[in-house]
Amino acid sequence: MHPPGHIHALRTTVTETHVITTTDLTKVYRTSGREVTALDGVDLHVREGEVYGVIGQSGAGKSSLIRCVNLLERPTAGTVTVAGQDLTALAGRGPRAGRELRRARGRIGMVFQHFNLLSTRTVQDNVELPLEILGTSGQERSRKALELLDLVGLTDKAKAYPAQLSGGQKQRVGIARALAGDPKVLLSDEATSALDPETTRSILQLLRDLNRQLGLTVLLITHEMDVVKSICDSAALMEKGRIVESGTVSELLATPGSELASALFPVGGEASGADRTVVDVTFQGEAATQPVISQLSRTYNIDISILGAAIDTVGGLQVGRMRIELPGRYEDNVVPIGFLREQGLHIDVLNEEPLLVKEGAK
Ligand SMILES: Nc1ncnc2c1ncn2[C@@H]1O[C@H](COP(=O)(O)OP(=O)(O)OP(=O)(O)O)[C@@H](O)[C@H]1O
Ligand SMILES: [Mg+2]
Repeated sequence: MHPPGHIHALRTTVTETHVITTTDLTKVYRTSGREVTALDGVDLHVREGEVYGVIGQSGAGKSSLIRCVNLLERPTAGTVTVAGQDLTALAGRGPRAGRELRRARGRIGMVFQHFNLLSTRTVQDNVELPLEILGTSGQERSRKALELLDLVGLTDKAKAYPAQLSGGQKQRVGIARALAGDPKVLLSDEATSALDPETTRSILQLLRDLNRQLGLTVLLITHEMDVVKSICDSAALMEKGRIVESGTVSELLATPGSELASALFPVGGEASGADRTVVDVTFQGEAATQPVISQLSRTYNIDISILGAAIDTVGGLQVGRMRIELPGRYEDNVVPIGFLREQGLHIDVLNEEPLLVKEGAK
């Protein structure tokens, strides 16, 4: 169920494999007689093998969402399915279901903002911890931990203690530990927020590499658009406990009015003078392949400046947004703008307002 105004760029079809699905997920916290609705009917669909970013302001409900996905937090209502298993159905249903839930959780790795390492244990022993809980033998634990430390580039730190590591190295340990149970899915709650920009880049690169090498699906939560921009295949925008936009990055780009697309691909550019009309053109597929802009220029004998553009190719078709400037005010450009709309393009006139004010004043 999408709330009104939801922009869902991604047309979900039954043939797609979703490794994480939430349906009408709701979380209400009750503390000392007060109720806070942190999640208000969230439908999330994360496809197998993708990096999916959830972005939103502080308090939007991002952490609540990720904690409900692995049932660290019990949802108030709704369902969570991970790798085909309905986790919500297992929660609180006796010891047998409890065991199954723990096993299912073992298939979900979690990375935290503040690493959550045990300071009294060595790096290797931190990575071995989830394997101890799973009952893996000592020899196998050690083999697995060293393999994972190699994967995250920390072989030489196996015997070190967390206090002897940099923030980036600590997070690498956190990631190795999250991978110990061979998860299909990795959840990350602000994994890079405590790191400097360069370390952030290297950790994001590591997550991307793991995603590609291991086919690991990554669901990450962030409040930084740059994180989404650098590694996400899909993204969702959360506001007040709801997902208000979602889709693949390319699909969002082709969605008129998408806030995420504007933030991800700012097409920038201001009008170069008062007597100019600035128009944002969103195009998808067929329309993009036609040389519409040059046709417009020839048909109406006008000079068009391109102020900015963001274009991507999805399934062999171009999608994108372009900001162009036409000479003259809006009233002089009604016909050319009508022409663009006839070509199947979505058009937003940016500096339309002054004209309306002027008309109103007449
Ligand atoms: N354990 C809790 N008990 C009561 N209220 C909570 C609890 N955890 C979160 N909340 C409330 O739920 C809402 C959503 O919080 P949440 O931590 O999910 O947001 P967030 O998007 O992760 O924010 P941030 O970017 O600051 O981490 C907030 O109003 C918060 O105060
Ligand atoms: Mg949070």
